[in-house]
Amino acid sequence: MSQIGIPDIDPALEKELLASMAEVESFLRAAIEGKYPLVIETSRHLVDAGGKRLRPLLTLIAAHFGNPKAKGIIEAAVVCELTHLGTLYHDDVMDDAPLRRGVASANNRWNNTVAILTGDYLFAKTSQLLADLGPEAVRLQALTFERLVIGQITETQGSSSGKTQLEHYLSVVADKTGSLISASARYGAMISGADLKIMDALTKFGEEIGIVFQLADDIIDIASDSKESGKTPGTDLREGVPTLVTLFILESDDPADLELKKLLSAPITDDAVVQEVILKLRNHSALTRSRELVAKYGQSAQEHLKTLPEGSAKAALVGLSQAVISRTS
Ligand code: IPE
Ligand code: IPE
Ligand code: MG
Ligand code: MG
Repeated sequence: MSQIGIPDIDPALEKELLASMAEVESFLRAAIEGKYPLVIETSRHLVDAGGKRLRPLLTLIAAHFGNPKAKGIIEAAVVCELTHLGTLYHDDVMDDAPLRRGVASANNRWNNTVAILTGDYLFAKTSQLLADLGPEAVRLQALTFERLVIGQITETQGSSSGKTQLEHYLSVVADKTGSLISASARYGAMISGADLKIMDALTKFGEEIGIVFQLADDIIDIASDSKESGKTPGTDLREGVPTLVTLFILESDDPADLELKKLLSAPITDDAVVQEVILKLRNHSALTRSRELVAKYGQSAQEHLKTLPEGSAKAALVGLSQAVISRTS
């Protein structure tokens, strides 16, 4: 695997992306500076803990379909990571998650109030950067954020308006995760001045690969341990949040699934039961079925790349999407 995490990437493009990502890193740290030491400390906590930096990377690659050196590209990439980061602070409160990026979540290390306000602080910093990127960028951010929030809130509600549980889940995933990953690609295209057709293809690609990314992440919540994910496995089970694997089981009429279905129909509070259910799920055919669906949606996301002009940036997106698709296998 290459240094930037994209298989078979063109070495010249990788070098450029690595240099730009280094700029993103220092800008990110500068952007969270402020007057009040506690909130700088709480913000740095997850910035320093790492993370994959998928969203800013996507912005930078998308910018290669226009002028990658255009003013505002680095700032837009930082906006995407900061927005993501703010949502992680809030998400861990919602999910009562103790671990994030391999370290204690902010709600665990401090408390819910500190975690929520740190998220808000990061959104405030994001708005300051957006003000200089212009009204089109501000509008994209507003629309994206609206979808993200709706995704997070509808996840806590059951399916409604005649949707099946699976349809509801997929729309939640599109809104809470597809929205920002799509916007990350769109910012790169928009600010670099890429052709409108290209911007449209990149936006759709971002949306669909974002959905695939979240589907894979939900499988990882079941199939991997904390060392790999930096998070506590089984968080969705503890919170009673249905995901692909559990939905497949909940809709099964195989009598062998009866006991598991009962356990999965509510939040699981007992740690030993969570462990027991995780082991059962890891050996269940629903896991294979989920991985197959991820691969299928992944291919559909990659279709949008076909319209892009040939070159190292397109090849990098093919490689990146391949890495996202195969994350669960
Ligand atoms: C976590 O996102 C939340 C999801 C949308 C699954 P990432 O998996 O991109 O988190 P980091 O940034 O690498 O920590
Ligand atoms: C994360 O959803 C989506 C957002 C933060 C908007 P999850 O709750 O599924 O993600 P993890 O597993 O905590 O990273
Ligand atoms: Mg969560
Ligand atoms: Mg969540």
